[in-house]
Amino acid sequence: MTSALPPVAENTSQSIMDLEREHLLQNYARYPLAITRGKGCYVYDPEGRRYLDFITGIGVNALGHAHPRIVRAIRDQAARLIHSSNLYYHPYQGKLAKRLAQMSGLERAFFANTGTEAIEGALKMVRAHGHAIDPEKYEIVSLENSFHGRTLGALSITGQPKYRTDFEPLLPGAKFVPINDVAALEAAVSEHTAGIVLELIQGEGGIYPLTQEFAAKARGLADHYNALLVADETQCGVGRPGTYFAYQRSHPVILPDVMVAAKPVACGIPLGFIMANEKAAAAIKPGMHGSTFGGGPLACRVALEFLDVLDELLPAIQRVGGYFHLKLNDLARKHALVKEVRGFGLMLGMELAIPGKQIVLDAIGEGLLINCTHETVLRLLPPYIATEKEVDQAIRILGKLLSKAAA
Ligand SMILES: Cc1ncc(COP(=O)(O)O)c(C=O)c1O
Repeated sequence: MTSALPPVAENTSQSIMDLEREHLLQNYARYPLAITRGKGCYVYDPEGRRYLDFITGIGVNALGHAHPRIVRAIRDQAARLIHSSNLYYHPYQGKLAKRLAQMSGLERAFFANTGTEAIEGALKMVRAHGHAIDPEKYEIVSLENSFHGRTLGALSITGQPKYRTDFEPLLPGAKFVPINDVAALEAAVSEHTAGIVLELIQGEGGIYPLTQEFAAKARGLADHYNALLVADETQCGVGRPGTYFAYQRSHPVILPDVMVAAKPVACGIPLGFIMANEKAAAAIKPGMHGSTFGGGPLACRVALEFLDVLDELLPAIQRVGGYFHLKLNDLARKHALVKEVRGFGLMLGMELAIPGKQIVLDAIGEGLLINCTHETVLRLLPPYIATEKEVDQAIRILGKLLSKAAA
């Protein structure tokens, strides 16, 4: 006997939007779209319209929607144990930590729930590391145009005034240098520096990859001044660049001391994590950090399932990502509005000569979900299961919209 589900059909797009407008904090400038279900690379609105999802909840739904292995893992684990707290052990944190250590080359894990929470933990690690050497060693160097999250610590090292100004004063000791400016980095780092925090591919800032030279200089300076090098892989990590982590794209690999990641790792179940080498991990002693929800059995079990699938998908991410990049470059040649295409794997950005918001809105009308970051950069974060067929569909729509925008 099947039990009847409550009638969700009464939710029209309009009724969903109206109710939110009345009762929610008005902090989000949402696009005029309500989503009620998804399958594979597509999501559906309450009226049954279908959209190709090439933004994946800002890089979260790595296996698209309703992936059978993820659904099975969630169902099975939900029926066993959803939450147990960090007062006790459960079988999946240790397994996931071991797996992530093998993937990252960093030995110890801490589990949080989001990117910004993972960054907060990393900042505490950096501060404690510096403090143990000298209380004056508390400065953190990060990059202009960076984004590290919305909590006060993360905002303190986020190099975009529009996110910070309303909340100042923030943490003292934050210094910002322009991306890929080796001389500026050299000038900013000193014996007062406790940590250097980098996104190997800036996401929110407009899909800007760091050069190998710059990343290597950051590694060298961190070693020289006994500071911790932190890679924020929240957006650019966990398979999206075609390697497990973006710092693994360089040859030889420039290994950070600390890495944080989040978004795709549990395919939509909130999970963030810090990986640290023994030196950085030693800064956090018993009682110095924690999280009620972080690393719960449901999230960790789902992450383990996802990582099994990811191993099979990495070659496809590289192949389809390369194909997408090529096709976007074709568009750039045909449309003068496109200034540049940037990114790696399935993390791509198309910089326009005009603001991108209207194109994003028009794309929704054409059944394609993307977004715009930094005013003029169309950001494309497709699911890892996307194939050339879905890429072709997205390219057709983008080509049409670029022609319209130029008219
Ligand atoms: C590089 C980077 N760090 C941190 C964050 C914050 O992550 P969350 O929104 O999960 O707190 C983001 C979110 O977009 C990000 O892109």
